[in-house]
Formats: sequence, structure tokens, C-alpha cells
Amino acid sequence: MIKRIIKRYLPKGAVDILRKVKKRIQNKDDFKWSEYNKEYSRQISEVEKENTLILPDSKYSIVKGKIVLESSLLPLHPNHKLLYETIYDLKPGSLLEVGFGCGDHLDNIQKILPEIEINGCDLLEDQMRFLLSRHSELKTNTNLFVHDITLFPPNIKVDLVYTQAVIMHIQRNNRHLNALRNMFHASKKYIVLMENWSEHKFYNDITKISREPDFPWKNIYLYANDDGKQILMIISNTVLEDYKELHNNKELLKYL
Ligand SMILES: C[S@@+](CC[C@H](N)C(=O)[O-])C[C@H]1O[C@@H](n2cnc3c(N)ncnc32)[C@H](O)[C@@H]1O
Repeated sequence: MIKRIIKRYLPKGAVDILRKVKKRIQNKDDFKWSEYNKEYSRQISEVEKENTLILPDSKYSIVKGKIVLESSLLPLHPNHKLLYETIYDLKPGSLLEVGFGCGDHLDNIQKILPEIEINGCDLLEDQMRFLLSRHSELKTNTNLFVHDITLFPPNIKVDLVYTQAVIMHIQRNNRHLNALRNMFHASKKYIVLMENWSEHKFYNDITKISREPDFPWKNIYLYANDDGKQILMIISNTVLEDYKELHNNKELLKYL
């Protein structure tokens, strides 16, 4: 009841600030992870009503680096589309998804880049079961494991590590910083993040981590891939000519 009144009468900016203050005080992640799988399955069913989540064989093509679906299909979710097209452009030889959820991203990326080595991890056994029920073939042609990215780096080195809607939900005791640190240790070239940029100060956090003595990369460059509606962040250890360099955290908030 109080929630409904607040939502109705306060402007959106004020609701967001209140939500953040509440989160800071509670010092909790956004979800109780042990109960998360049910809620996530529900969310996936909802998103599926408006978006194509799994690229259907022979009903899509890639034209000049853009994924084009047959007109009878629902569109890809814009965040997913930007994520896949960015990874397609970077063409890593190997990758790791942290927080794979239902596995759709791993499956789709394997379809558009069939030659690359695919790895994925998630905190929850339940999510692993969910992934295998949706994409049984990933069991044989990818390397999947249960791992808490906030604890230590996974025992693996790949060209590119990415997340989609994971780091934003890790809020307790600033453990998102550990998650980011551990991702850098697992990556040889790139980190790609598709997150809600208002949930952490991602630019500032990554810059801070990059100055720590055990930061594994010699050089670091932060870029935005801006498709005019949302921003995806690319962190690279070499200069990338085709992307716009990020200069501060505010630039990430452009569409929020
Ligand atoms: C919002 S879901 C997103 C799932 C998937 N990336 C997607 O886009 O559908 C967040 C995922 O992150 C996983 N996760 C949460 N904390 C994690 C951690 N510390 N280490 C690894 N995975 C984690 C959850 O189990 C869940 O699958």
C-alpha cells in the first residue's frame, strides 16, 4: 500500500533515490539468490512474450555485423542484440559468461560465432539445471560450471569475459568490486558489460580497480558502444579504434 502511494505520487527520480537509500541501509543483494530461480523463470516467460530470446535456426542473418530476424519474429531484446553484435565485432577466440542464467546468450553467441570456445558460470545449481533444460546441447559443446564470481577468479583464461544484468544486482558489502576484479583476472583482452549503469558507479569502480597493485592488465581503455538507445561498456587492454572512449561515469547514464 505504502509502496503504491510512493510510486504514484513521487516523481521517478525521487523513487529511484529512495530505492537506493533503502538498498544502502539494508546492505543486501537485489535478490535472495537461494530462491531466485523461480522468480527468474517467471521473468524469462514474461520477456519471451515480447522478444525473441533464442535465435531460431535459419530465421536470422547477419548483415554488416547486425543481426536481422525474419519479419514474422518478435524482435531481439535491444540489450541482448547490442551485446551479441559487440561480441561478434570483437571476435574473441574464447569467452566466458559470468551469471549465465538460462543460457540463451551462450546459445545465441555460439550460433553466430560457431568456431569460438565457449565457457559459462553461474552462482546457482538451479540456474545450471534451467540452462540444461533449455539448451541440452550446451552440455557437450561448452564448458559450464557453478562458481561465485565474488569469491575468487575462475580457473580459466579467455579472451573476453562478459555479464548481462549480473553485477548490477550484487550490492552487499561492495562485493561487486570483487566480482569485477576476478573477471579481469580471467580475461586476456576484453570485459564487456551490459548492466544498469545507475546501480553502481561502474566507470569509477573499474578505474579504481585498475590502479590496484595486483591488477593483471598493463593497459586499460574504457569504451561505450552506444546504439542510440542504450550503452554497453567495453573494457579493453588495447586501443579500439571503432568505439567511443568513455571519460566519466556520467556518460554511462545518458539514457537513464
Ligand atoms: C538477472 S540474472 C541474469 C542472467 C542472465 N545473464 C540473463 O541475462 O538472463 C543474474 C544471474 O547472475 C547469477 N549470479 C548472481 N550472483 C552471482 C555470483 N556471485 N557469481 C556468479 N553468478 C551470479 C544469478 O544466479 C543469475 O543467474
